[in-house]
Amino acid sequence: MVIVYRSNTGFTKEYAEMLGKTEKMKVYSLAQAGGLDKGTEVFFMGPLMAGHITGVDQAVKRFQVKGVCGVGMSPASQQTLDTLAKANYVPDAPIFYLQGGWAPKKVGWIKRRMVNMVTRSMRQSLRDKGSRRTPEEQRQLDFLEKGGSFVAFEHLEAIRAWMKDQK
Ligand SMILES: Cc1cc2nc3c(=O)[nH]c(=O)nc-3n(C[C@H](O)[C@H](O)[C@H](O)COP(=O)(O)O)c2cc1C
Repeated sequence: MVIVYRSNTGFTKEYAEMLGKTEKMKVYSLAQAGGLDKGTEVFFMGPLMAGHITGVDQAVKRFQVKGVCGVGMSPASQQTLDTLAKANYVPDAPIFYLQGGWAPKKVGWIKRRMVNMVTRSMRQSLRDKGSRRTPEEQRQLDFLEKGGSFVAFEHLEAIRAWMKDQK
């Protein structure tokens, strides 16, 4: 199995490379993966856009996708994973979620506006708390307004455990 990824602002790429290094697997961007055989077994990783894992459809058409991972800006939770699984069904492949980050300066203004629309009410309620914001809420507000990264090696644990059974 090899890792194939799509990444717009770099967070998914970071995870893909981290995973490839620790699991000693080859890592290809979807563009680089053009030369791979059609039936190649692939673990696909892609950024979330409006709930959809970017690139997963191309990956499923071209390769034998054994597992899928969506990388988004929301914190990881069972609810995030359930929603993801419903919107991105891949036959016979488990689905994983990793919290990546948010890089407003690296996306175009239309996409930035789309995300800002979705996060508006949360930003507003955090701002309204003023000095009553907890340190965690302050971090969350900074993240939504200025961006930041939650990429961490520890988050790969569930994927690595699953991969051990695949080898
Ligand atoms: C237009 C747009 C839509 C997005 N939709 C979601 C979403 O539905 N859920 C989510 O968790 N993150 C969403 N994000 C955030 C990205 O998935 C997140 O920044 C991710 O880490 C980007 O990965 P990348 O750096 O590999 O491109 C969205 C970002 C953009 C620009």
